[in-house]
Amino acid sequence: MGYGYEKNSFGSRLFEFWESYEESGICRLQNRTGCSENKGGQLVLPEKDIVVGLDIGTSRVSALIAEYNDAGELCFAGAGSVPSDGLRKGVVVNIEAAQKAIADAIEAAEQEAGRTVHDVYTAVTSGNVEGLNSRGVVAVSGKGREVTVQDIRRVIEAAKAIAVPMDREILHVVPQHFMVDDKVGIRDPLDMIGVRLEADVHIITGSIAATQNVIKCTNRSGYKVNEISLESLVASQNILSDDEKELGVLYLDIGGGTSDAIVYFEGTPHFSGSLPVAGEQVTTDLSIVLEQPMDQAEAIKLNQGKCWEPLVDPSQEVLLPGIGGRPPRSIPEVDVCRIIQSRMAEILLLIRKQLHQKGYLNRLGGGVVIAGGGALLPGAGELASDIFRRPVRIAMPSGLKDLPGHCRGPEWSTVVGLVMAAKSEENSLGNDSEIIGGAWGFWERLKEWFANFI
Ligand SMILES: Nc1ncnc2c1ncn2[C@@H]1O[C@H](COP(=O)(O)OP(=O)(O)OP(=O)(O)O)[C@@H](O)[C@H]1O
Ligand SMILES: [Mg+2]
Repeated sequence: MGYGYEKNSFGSRLFEFWESYEESGICRLQNRTGCSENKGGQLVLPEKDIVVGLDIGTSRVSALIAEYNDAGELCFAGAGSVPSDGLRKGVVVNIEAAQKAIADAIEAAEQEAGRTVHDVYTAVTSGNVEGLNSRGVVAVSGKGREVTVQDIRRVIEAAKAIAVPMDREILHVVPQHFMVDDKVGIRDPLDMIGVRLEADVHIITGSIAATQNVIKCTNRSGYKVNEISLESLVASQNILSDDEKELGVLYLDIGGGTSDAIVYFEGTPHFSGSLPVAGEQVTTDLSIVLEQPMDQAEAIKLNQGKCWEPLVDPSQEVLLPGIGGRPPRSIPEVDVCRIIQSRMAEILLLIRKQLHQKGYLNRLGGGVVIAGGGALLPGAGELASDIFRRPVRIAMPSGLKDLPGHCRGPEWSTVVGLVMAAKSEENSLGNDSEIIGGAWGFWERLKEWFANFI
C-alpha cells in the first residue's frame, strides 16, 4: 500500500481518478477510505470529519484545519502560519528547512483546533507549471449515437494526448466545452445525439521534481498528502463568482516569490501562467535603494509601503534607522512609494503583456481579482485598475463557516481554497446523484462519473 501522494491529483484527479485506480489498483481507494501513517509510523484512520489545507509558499507556510459540524457544514477549527524557509520562487530548495516550516505551521493549527491531523491537501505554485489548450476528437460510439460517459472519457483522453516532456506531468485537465457534430459550446454532452464528439480542454502540466519535493517535505514532516493541486486554480475557484468567470476575469496571486495568473472566460480557465517576480523583489528593491538590511526593508514595506502615489501624503516622511551606529535619517514617503510602485507596475505590466500576446486582454469583462500578500499593499487595486483599465477587487476568502477575521485576507486565499475544494470533492464523491451546474460543475460531474466507475 502506498502512503503519501498517488501520482497526479486534484484537477487531473478529476479525470485521472479512474486512471489512478486502474494504474495503482486499490491504493487510491485505500488512500481515501483506508489507513494512513502518522508521525510515529502507526496506522491510523484518516479523519472523515476534518479537512486540512496546507499552503507551502515562498514567504509563509500556512495550514488551516476545518471540521464538519452536525449539519454537514465545514467550519473553521484552527490555523497556523509561520515564515517559510527552504523555498525559492515557490520551489523547494532545502528539504529539511521546508519540512520544519511545514511541521511548525500544521502544529500551530493543530494547537488552535485542539486535535491532531494526519493528511493534508496541498498545492504547487504556477512557477513550475505550464498551461495550454488542447482539443480532442472521437467518434460517438454509444447505442443510437448517444454520447455516453465512455465517449466523454475517450474525448478527454484524446485531448490529453499532447507531448509532455519527460520531466513534467499533467496536473490538471479542465474541460472548457464540448462540440457534438456542428453544435458548439456544449457544456454537458451526455446523452446528446451525434456522430462526432470534440472537447476543448485546458491542460496544466507541472514539474515532476518540484511536485515530488513538496510531497517529500510534507511526508517527512509526518503528514500524508491527499491531493496536490495548482494553487491559483483551487484558490480562484473559491474566490471568483460564476458571473466573473463567465464574463472573463484575471485572478492574480502576487505572493512572495511568484506572481501567478489564471484567466477564465465562458466559465472555464483558458490561460494559466506565472512570473518569478513578486513581493520579495519589492523588498529587495527597497533594501538596495534605501541601503537597508532586508528585514528592515520588509518592515518599511509592511508598515508604510504604498504602491499608488496619489494615496501618499506629500508631507509624510519615513524614518530609516542608521546602519552601524550611524544616526537615523528620514526620506519622503513618496520616494518609498515610487520604488514600490515601479516594481509592482512591472509585475502587472508583464502579466498584461502575456495576456495581450495570448489575446485574452480584451476578454476581462469581469475585471481583475488580486490575491496573495502583495494584494495587501495599499494602492494595489488602484494600480492594477490603472494598468488593466478594468475594475479590480482584492480577493477575500469565504465560504468557510466561522472563518476568523485574520484568515480573511488575500494571503489566505490558497489555503481556504484548498479546504473548500476538498469539501466539494467529498460532496461529489459522497453523493452520486449530485450534479452541479456550470463550468466547475463539469469538472465535478466528471469526477462523479469517474467515481462511479471505481
Ligand atoms: N500587509 C502587507 N503589506 C504589503 N505586503 C505584504 C503584506 N503582508 C504580506 N506582504 C507581502 O506579501 C508577500 C507574501 O505573500 P504570500 O504569503 O501570499 O506569499 P507566499 O504564498 O508565501 O509566496 P508564493 O506564493 O510566491 O510562493 C511578501 O513579499 C510580503 O512582504
Ligand atoms: Mg502563495
